Amino acid sequence: MEEINKTYQDDLILFVNGKKIVEKNAEPELPLLTYLRKKLCLTGAKLGCAEGGCGACTVMVSKFDSDRKIIVHKALNACLAPVCSLHLCAVTTVEGIGSVARKLHPVQERIAKAHGSQCGFCTPGIVMSMYALLRNNAQPTMRDIEEAFQGNLCRCTGYRPILEGYKTFTKQQKGCCLRGEAGVCHVISVQKEETQSGDSTNSVQQLFNPSEFMPLDPTQEIIFPPELMSLSKQPVRELRFIGERVQWIQPSSLANLLQLKAENPAAKLVVGNTEVGIEMKFKNLLYPVILAPAYIPELNSIQYTENGIVFGACVTLTLLGDVLHTAVDELPSYQTEVFQAVLQQLRWFAGQQIRNVAAIGGNIMTASPISDLNPVFMAAGCKLTLMSKEGIRVLPMDDKFFIDYRKTALKPEEILLCIEIPYTKKGQYFSAFKQSSRKEDDIAIVTCGMNVVFLEGSNIVQDMHLSYGGMGPTTVLASATSRRLVGRQWDDTLMQDACSFLAEEMTLSPCAPGGMVAYRRTLTVSLFFKFFLTVQHKLAQEDLSAEDVRADYASAIDLSHMDSPTSIQLFQAVPSGQKVDDMIGRPIMHLSAMKQATGEAVYCDDIPCYENELYLALVTSSKPHAYIKSIDTSDAMAVPGVVTFVCDQDIPGSNKTGPAVYDETVLAEDKVTCVGHIVGAVVADTQAHAQRAAKAVRISYEDLQPVIVTIQDAIASESFYQPIRTIERGDLTQGFQEADNILQGEIHIGGQEHFYLETNCTVAVPRGEDGEMELFVSTQSAAKTQALVAKALGVPASHIVCRVKRMGGGFGGKESRSSILSTVVAVAAHKVKRPVRCMLDREEDMLVTGGRHPFFGRYKVGFKRNGKVMAVDVTYYSNAGNSADLSLSIMERALFHMDNCYNIPHIRGTGYICRTNLPSNTAFRGFGGPQGMMVTESWMNDVALACGLAAEQVREMNMYKQGDLTPFHQRLEQFTIHRCWQECLTISDFCQRKANIELYNKQHRWTKRGLSIIPTKFGISFTAVFLNQAGALVHIYTDGSVLITHGGTEMGQGLHTKMVQVASRTLEIPSTKIHISETSTNTVPNTSPTAASASSDLNGMAVYNACKTLLQRLEPYKARNPTGCWENWVTAAYFDRVNLSANGFYKTPDLGYNFETNSGHPFNYFSYGVAVSEVEIDCLTGSHKNLHTSIVMDVGKSLNPALDIGQVEGAFMQGVGLFTLEELRYSSQGYLYTRGPGMYKIPAFGDIPTELKVSLLRDAPNDKAIFSSKAVGEPPLFLAASVFYAIKDAITAARTDAGVLGPFRLDSPATPERIRNACQDTFTKLCPPPEPGTYAPWDVRV
Ligand SMILES: Cc1cc2nc3c(=O)[nH]c(=O)nc-3n(C[C@H](O)[C@H](O)[C@H](O)COP(=O)(O)OP(=O)(O)OC[C@H]3O[C@@H](n4cnc5c(N)ncnc54)[C@H](O)[C@@H]3O)c2cc1C
Ligand code: FES
Ligand code: FES
Repeated sequence: MEEINKTYQDDLILFVNGKKIVEKNAEPELPLLTYLRKKLCLTGAKLGCAEGGCGACTVMVSKFDSDRKIIVHKALNACLAPVCSLHLCAVTTVEGIGSVARKLHPVQERIAKAHGSQCGFCTPGIVMSMYALLRNNAQPTMRDIEEAFQGNLCRCTGYRPILEGYKTFTKQQKGCCLRGEAGVCHVISVQKEETQSGDSTNSVQQLFNPSEFMPLDPTQEIIFPPELMSLSKQPVRELRFIGERVQWIQPSSLANLLQLKAENPAAKLVVGNTEVGIEMKFKNLLYPVILAPAYIPELNSIQYTENGIVFGACVTLTLLGDVLHTAVDELPSYQTEVFQAVLQQLRWFAGQQIRNVAAIGGNIMTASPISDLNPVFMAAGCKLTLMSKEGIRVLPMDDKFFIDYRKTALKPEEILLCIEIPYTKKGQYFSAFKQSSRKEDDIAIVTCGMNVVFLEGSNIVQDMHLSYGGMGPTTVLASATSRRLVGRQWDDTLMQDACSFLAEEMTLSPCAPGGMVAYRRTLTVSLFFKFFLTVQHKLAQEDLSAEDVRADYASAIDLSHMDSPTSIQLFQAVPSGQKVDDMIGRPIMHLSAMKQATGEAVYCDDIPCYENELYLALVTSSKPHAYIKSIDTSDAMAVPGVVTFVCDQDIPGSNKTGPAVYDETVLAEDKVTCVGHIVGAVVADTQAHAQRAAKAVRISYEDLQPVIVTIQDAIASESFYQPIRTIERGDLTQGFQEADNILQGEIHIGGQEHFYLETNCTVAVPRGEDGEMELFVSTQSAAKTQALVAKALGVPASHIVCRVKRMGGGFGGKESRSSILSTVVAVAAHKVKRPVRCMLDREEDMLVTGGRHPFFGRYKVGFKRNGKVMAVDVTYYSNAGNSADLSLSIMERALFHMDNCYNIPHIRGTGYICRTNLPSNTAFRGFGGPQGMMVTESWMNDVALACGLAAEQVREMNMYKQGDLTPFHQRLEQFTIHRCWQECLTISDFCQRKANIELYNKQHRWTKRGLSIIPTKFGISFTAVFLNQAGALVHIYTDGSVLITHGGTEMGQGLHTKMVQVASRTLEIPSTKIHISETSTNTVPNTSPTAASASSDLNGMAVYNACKTLLQRLEPYKARNPTGCWENWVTAAYFDRVNLSANGFYKTPDLGYNFETNSGHPFNYFSYGVAVSEVEIDCLTGSHKNLHTSIVMDVGKSLNPALDIGQVEGAFMQGVGLFTLEELRYSSQGYLYTRGPGMYKIPAFGDIPTELKVSLLRDAPNDKAIFSSKAVGEPPLFLAASVFYAIKDAITAARTDAGVLGPFRLDSPATPERIRNACQDTFTKLCPPPEPGTYAPWDVRV
């Protein structure tokens, strides 16, 4: 490549929140997000993934479009946008639109007040997506809002409250909350329910009051800077920004671009950077010269020709969609078949933020085999115009254009100028289909464009093009199939032959990258069948086909439509006499919600950098099991800014670590036992330098055997941690003898990534004296972090302070595994004697920190003909990974939940914890309970199917009654499951729903509906007895303000809010006088992790006790001055030298269980709940829709119904992810493929049930916890199993149609692949799975 003139550097000019910024040294490799956060200290926008997949970094960018003479506002991902791409743009961040001190913007206010912000880490991004939408459309529809959020994820809320809050901006919602069904006001519908239940003592209030909301006033928005307007109108000139390794050139014209490309054929064109950004960040590719042609008019032009519409290569996907929508509206339908297909693909193409910047040319030129647009363009015969300095050439987009994996026929000096998308003609039909794991923002598994042309006035095929993505290294054409169909009539025989031909032609190696081989092949056929039916229907409408589509087949061609969600929340209002200042039981907002919505809430990585701070990047193993032969850091040390490499030799104290047993190392010594094992760390001046250097560290290994990755491997090698636990009650032999039938079955439940939006983060600050160190950590376990850091540094725990302000979600993932990062950062800080920071990248976090344990259950169940279960023998295996971590307690909890809500006279559960070469798995909301109960429901479902009885009937018949004993001999008191069950049947209208489904299923062959009701019982307490303790420290200051610290940490669940409510009631003061600043080990020592759902119970009692002590001390002053106020009493006590600081302590009484004798109490009490779910599956693709869920949850007397409903819905949606969507995929060598939101899909906005009812059980006080409340964090998660079993019910209906009857195995998650494969039919028979054992699959189930 020729040397590019490096002599000058242009100034980058941009405006941020109305302020002009002139950047003299713009760095082309720097994303806007880093620039905002680190350079401008605007930390509102968050880093969640760095790959455009979570939306936490969303900002709005405005620029003047000189062609259209308008100002364009668009939401984009600041993590992918290079700062250099923003020359002459105005950036608006969450800080720019409102603040708590100044005034909240309505968008910020509504998400906060509607309880749409829990941990708050996603909130700024969601706020900015909504803000950008409103800047373009002040009265959006619900559909607009749903589309605006396609690129945003939230892991806490379950999305419902966010949509409810923002529904108030829509036109139809003005004047009424309209949260009820079918447009009925929520208040009206709720009150109707209340009256029906006949309770007159309680009224119902709303979770929020929309009439309090500030109106949206579009005239008050920040204006586009006038200076920018005039700068934008000036003639364009070439710009150069020169960085450390890369230079960015913005050509002034097309000729200038072609000249530069001729001089530098290797230079990379970058438009939206949504592909190149990923390559540079994750694939370690470096493009030293970048040409940014986004501003060149010819590349942005849109021309209408005789044959179609020609789009310049830089036209964004959003603009492409807008233009095609207009064309579809204006032109006759037969002319726009291809346009409609492109729009269909665009609807499910990434999220809005990506579509707003990604270009049509970028999609084509990436040449990805799973591009959504290329199969459409190929099947449609689009024409591409290529250009170089030498001239123009026009190529048809056919199978010669894509020459290999991500390679095209483009010559190095050429660029893509434009693409022509043709009109269709009469007698031509076109469809596009995309199948992915998740509907919204997901890459395709298989995607296709299908084009057929008939001889005029007939149904005889004249020409045909079927193009598929996801079936090879390039987009492919099924040319042989198409050729064989030309000249034939469009009838059933053609369809059957076409499917056989496709099955022959669209083959895949059994080891093909991406796996799912049988499914992908089946999809090629099933999607063709959909195309066949679509065309048959259109032909019939034109009287060109003898038969129309059969009525029961019609739903196969309905394009996925989603109704906007509706919801109802039912909760008990506080008694009418309750004091107004007494906040217990009221749905008050999360205390940080407003700060979270404005971006002012401070998370660990938002703490301003210390002056001499350094950044740390981990160096991890690429081998699952190996000796480390050598570590070569020479290249790493040569990276600018690198200060040191940290290895095990640098640990001053002990390298042994672990939360329960010390069976891990802080840094590997001579051996690694998983891919992702931490070997060392590089410390450098910036994150970019540290990460670059970490990648340059070369480790040589000597492979070791065995490599145990899956549970099956571990069983074969008997690789288990000890002890092997058993709980047994009754006499199994007798039980099986008493049974009429015995069946055996298996279920595998996949693991789950926590995907807290904020990854693990630590800032370690050495204090310079006595080995003291202060740590700011995103952890659920401040005391454990303190202890393990002290151990590694070889200092007493008293010299280490760990502080936690808040977390951006935890879910168990920051209970024990956060300390593996904290200890490394602390060791590094100790070594360099400077503050060191590290926030893990999403891919590192997913790789290193483990997740929920995968479980495998094998069972034998004996039952009577009427469904009564007599005996169950179940063996659980969990995949624990390479260290024990908390796996024993997790297995114990699985065993404690093996009965779920059923009274089985003879039962035995045995739990094996598999030691494998995977990163150690750990705590995750539910802590083994959901896995334990999932196996239970599997055998319960099998029993119902085997008996031919309704599953709900069998479940109810086997249910416990009040006073029954569990297999571990704990008596069930205050047993509310039957009340929950009955109420759930009622509010879900179960019987009517079931009848409707039966009818629906009779009338539909290719879509089926299913229904299920599932109960749950969840034991509350840490099963490690010593952890059931908590402390609190309460200070009253002389102005009457109160500061509380307690042992629990805030991760979005609203614990601090509840603690303030507890203190407010106890001290009898308004909650506004009470503050919680943080959790710290120097205020409350020896805290238990915030886990096991028990934190409100434990810390609530500790806070209560401390407040009671203080109240007693104030009592004399109150008595002396009964008409005085709080401040008077406090002042009087102070002058009387009364200690206005007290600590409180609490331990749960009567706990302790002995596995040897199967005696004692493991739990303080149980939480109960029931859910009904209805789903619809597409039997041809395996997709499903969640149509309805009703949940009734017993949370005792709710401390705060808004927070509790938030926990119920959030946990439920996390469970929906666990059981239907989220799939961690590993190679047989333990390499994790799914390391970010691109490949690992958590539920998105579109996955919530279309209709969701949540009811907190009324009049169910719990005498075992603070103010009669109950724990709520984990118990509702398992209720998502109702969705799984509804899917299984729907599959059963499909199998029945195909003549396949009886119990069948369905592993979790019920992904589209599993659903499709289970719906056996003629198409699946054409594509049988490869014979196991005859090939090395791309991925294995761990
Ligand atoms: C979160 C996320 C979700 C995504 N979802 C989808 C999806 O659902 N479906 C899908 O198909 N893709 C998806 N993608 C991939 C990507 O967004 C698209 O391929 C996009 O269209 C690329 O456009 P861009 O302008 O950002 O490309 P860039 O990254 O700027 O460039 C991509 C490539 O095209 C080349 N190029 C660009 N313009 C020209 C030109 N005029 N001449 C020659 N070469 C050129 C570049 O040099 C580069 O090699 C997704 C990406 C992300 C990050
Ligand atoms: S951080 Fe940008 S999308 Fe996730
Ligand atoms: S509130 Fe959305 S991720 Fe926590």
